[in-house]
Amino acid sequence: TERPYVIDEMITAKSIAARIEALSREIAAEFDDTDKLVVVGLLRGSFVFIADLVRELDLPIEVDFIEASSYGDAMESSREVRILKDLRSAIEGRDVLVVEDIVDTGFTLSHVIKLLQSRKPARLKTIALLDKPSRREVEIAADWIGFEIPDEFVVGYGVDFAQRNRNLPYIGKVRFTP
Ligand code: PRP
Ligand code: MG
Ligand code: MN
Repeated sequence: TERPYVIDEMITAKSIAARIEALSREIAAEFDDTDKLVVVGLLRGSFVFIADLVRELDLPIEVDFIEASSYGDAMESSREVRILKDLRSAIEGRDVLVVEDIVDTGFTLSHVIKLLQSRKPARLKTIALLDKPSRREVEIAADWIGFEIPDEFVVGYGVDFAQRNRNLPYIGKVRFTP
């Protein structure tokens, strides 16, 4: 029942790297007075982005993860965000940066922000590599965005299609073939 598809390159690895360099400088400026920034990746989609981002970040940091899932293997959001794994560290009074691969309907990021805000961090900021504003159902915007994209099914650089293609070094667009 798997429809055959091909992947057309949409954002090259090179332009992703250049964008991350620029974003890292903005983030470092924003948190230049931090004693230690907790960088929180949302598993699984953000694992590639967070790895590249933290290596460009000239700040004292700690890395932690939350696993949230709303799509599973489906193409449509369940609109129900489940926390499958919570943070290891307490974040009360601390500086936190949430790292997401893509904001689509907004349910995932909005749920995670609410959860983390309730723990009273000193500062909580968000970054998403990709933003699909045309698909938004929950009013939410990340503080930093890598690229705004149209309503296309994208894969690669951590983003999956039914758990596949996360390992592509670039962002590609899924095109179904007859
Ligand atoms: C995907 C993606 C974002 C979220 C965006 O995660 O990685 O986290 O959906 O969609 P939304 O804005 O409509 O909530 P998914 O639930 O597929 O889990 P994954 O990160 O493990 O792929
Ligand atoms: Mg995800
Ligand atoms: Mn997914």
